[in-house]
Amino acid sequence: MSEFHERVFSGVQPTGNLHLGNYLGAITKFVSLQKTHECIYCVVDLHAITVPQDPLELQANTREVTAAFIAAGIDPHKQIIFNQSQVAEHAELAWIFNCVARIGWLNRMTQFKEKAGKDRENASIGLYAYPALMAADILIYRATHVPVGEDQKQHLELARDIAQKFNNDFSESIARNGFGGAYFPLPEPLIQGPATRVMSLRDGSKKMSKSDPSDNSRLNISDSAELIAQKIRKAKTDPEPLPSETAGLAKRPEADNLVGIYAALAEQSREEVLARFGGANFSTFKSALVDLSVEKLGPIGAEMKRLQGDNVYLDQVLRDGAGRARVIAAENMGQVKQILGFVR
Ligand code: TYM
Repeated sequence: MSEFHERVFSGVQPTGNLHLGNYLGAITKFVSLQKTHECIYCVVDLHAITVPQDPLELQANTREVTAAFIAAGIDPHKQIIFNQSQVAEHAELAWIFNCVARIGWLNRMTQFKEKAGKDRENASIGLYAYPALMAADILIYRATHVPVGEDQKQHLELARDIAQKFNNDFSESIARNGFGGAYFPLPEPLIQGPATRVMSLRDGSKKMSKSDPSDNSRLNISDSAELIAQKIRKAKTDPEPLPSETAGLAKRPEADNLVGIYAALAEQSREEVLARFGGANFSTFKSALVDLSVEKLGPIGAEMKRLQGDNVYLDQVLRDGAGRARVIAAENMGQVKQILGFVR
């Protein structure tokens, strides 16, 4: 790995209802990694169309994610923020990866099974091939580190398998063309901290998700203070007070989730949160969680709203970012073509 320049890549789908899971599982990590790394953050619109999208909503949602990135603290001048469809090399490399990845590998993807549901015959080919596009997103930049929530772990493992198989299948050509022992790095998932899998506020066994029909199941990043308070007060809990040790959260998914959310927002561990709230009942803890959530999410939601009033600026950020991304992507795509033996 050491032969590769360290670079961070991650993506978020513009499918609306950006929520606390996206924020804690991914976006806060994006923000902190800028201190130490060169980062590329992508609004993955090509992924969004694997299920039907209304074109006007897709536009609005693309700008919403862009605004969230900037409002959360990603600097669009220092780092790259762009939307995937403006850099054609993502789709181009995805085709090549479709020819590297094996059907058996994709058949194991649990997210496809969940999203396609019972009517699998009617799912788009894009939804099935989605993980190959995701691998291309990362590897077209030869990125080494990928901050994501827990639900993307299997897709990241597949990206590593694709990179490894490409390196093996073309090892001679890679060496002959002067790229050393391996062309693609094996990208490392960064899945860390107390909120890598934020659960629904209504059901501690289900992931917080953009597509849950109940808006009360999630805190949206752009929710007002009143709505945040209302949703947290309604959040499902159990009758016991909070335990003083994390072991006491073991069979209490809703309590565990709220403690995890508090810990992530406060940048503490679950242990530290329980040291303070152990023995407290939920009404006390929920009040503290409302205050903390409003304190942390309120300014981001307000800044998002302000930015979303200026589409010219947001579109300019995406165009500028795409221009810079394209330079890296085009160079790497040229090398991949050389390795494959495409006449150029
Ligand atoms: P997406 O758009 O579903 O989610 C964006 C990010 O948010 C994380 N996340 C969560 N984290 C904790 N708890 C939750 N309940 C929760 N829900 C979502 C996701 O793990 C993700 O990090 N396939 C990706 C997008 C993608 C991508 C990529 C990511 C496309 N290409 C390349 C990394 C690298 C997705 O659908 O994320």
